[in-house]
Amino acid sequence: MTTAASNSLSGLRAKEDNYHKFLTKISAHFPEAAHYLNHEQMQFLDLKAVLADLQRIELGGFSHENVGGRYGRQQLNTPRALTRSHGYLALSRLLQRERRWCGNDVLFDALAGNGTFDRVMQELVVERPKYVGNDVSITMVRQAHRDNRLVFYSDLRTPVLRDGFADYAVSAYGTHHVPPDVRQAFVNAAARRLKAGGTLVIQDFVEGRPTACWYSECIAQFRSCGHNYQHFTRGELGALLLDAGLANVTEHMIYDPFVMPVEPGSSDDAARGHFYAYLIELFALDRLERIAAQERLSGRTLGNLILPYFAMSAQDMDEISRESANVVAEALIERVLTVKNIDGVRCLVAPRVAIAAVGTRPLRISQFPPL
Ligand SMILES: C[S@@+](CC[C@H](N)C(=O)[O-])C[C@H]1O[C@@H](n2cnc3c(N)ncnc32)[C@H](O)[C@@H]1O
Repeated sequence: MTTAASNSLSGLRAKEDNYHKFLTKISAHFPEAAHYLNHEQMQFLDLKAVLADLQRIELGGFSHENVGGRYGRQQLNTPRALTRSHGYLALSRLLQRERRWCGNDVLFDALAGNGTFDRVMQELVVERPKYVGNDVSITMVRQAHRDNRLVFYSDLRTPVLRDGFADYAVSAYGTHHVPPDVRQAFVNAAARRLKAGGTLVIQDFVEGRPTACWYSECIAQFRSCGHNYQHFTRGELGALLLDAGLANVTEHMIYDPFVMPVEPGSSDDAARGHFYAYLIELFALDRLERIAAQERLSGRTLGNLILPYFAMSAQDMDEISRESANVVAEALIERVLTVKNIDGVRCLVAPRVAIAAVGTRPLRISQFPPL
């Protein structure tokens, strides 16, 4: 930590030990962390109130073992996370629509979880930007630190992190957890962390389409703490970016399948069963797990329940085929869950469709709405 940073942090101790402890710890573990903290503003912040507000945010259960623990373990399991690499790669293409990233750039993940975006990129690309995340669940943040990824524990709407440090920023796989009445403030707060010319991508799922219904119907019913969150309508993500002052805003339909290699010798039914078991773990469907065991649900019954959510309409097919961010082999595009040979490897392909909006911070506008 630099002297300026440690002086700034020592001034905080009197105000709030716990949050100060967190900031000290993160700066000790990640020397570069001090660079992203807003030392000027920090001395005026009531850190006790900052922490209390942060702890009041509804986290979607991610700090409970049944959700954050199970979800987090699956995300930390790199081969498992790579089963969704096509969606993450499409987002990386949108981020780089104006300029390819390099190792000196900074990518800010505004909804970082335990750092999966970086974990996936680490496996898939030769050069990737430095990764800086933020999340509101201390459980997810701790998982990220154990995996050596810098993720801050803050409410982005507070000035704990400084403005204008990121070349790229992303919020993906969970933007629906941000309540509708604070979404604009969340996107504003992500946008202001961009440098001039930096690019922000916000991703989620379209309300009423099968992928969103997986969350609003299946997860809602079969996770004991429920999942009552609103997804996005067409145009909504783009409007949030425009209102955050970003330019050149576009929306994209992203093909986001699970692609799982099938164990040699496994039948198609066994491959589907393995996929259902993975979904139960990843999405923490504890009620479904209990019911399946108690009622000895057959693979067919589980399939009847799960398969409608992994399907694409003719409209989805049309939209994803016209989208240049989707660089996917033809053989991987399926309308329904399919087990097939691709280049001599048996794979299970479970289609999903996401939506993402991208915008760029204008070079000449430096003012953002106040936090
Ligand atoms: C499904 S996880 C996705 C994490 C990561 N983007 C990924 O791809 O694995 C959703 C994350 O959103 C975080 N979250 C929930 N509500 C939030 C909010 N209001 N602001 C920021 N993050 C939030 C949760 O703590 C959780 O870690």
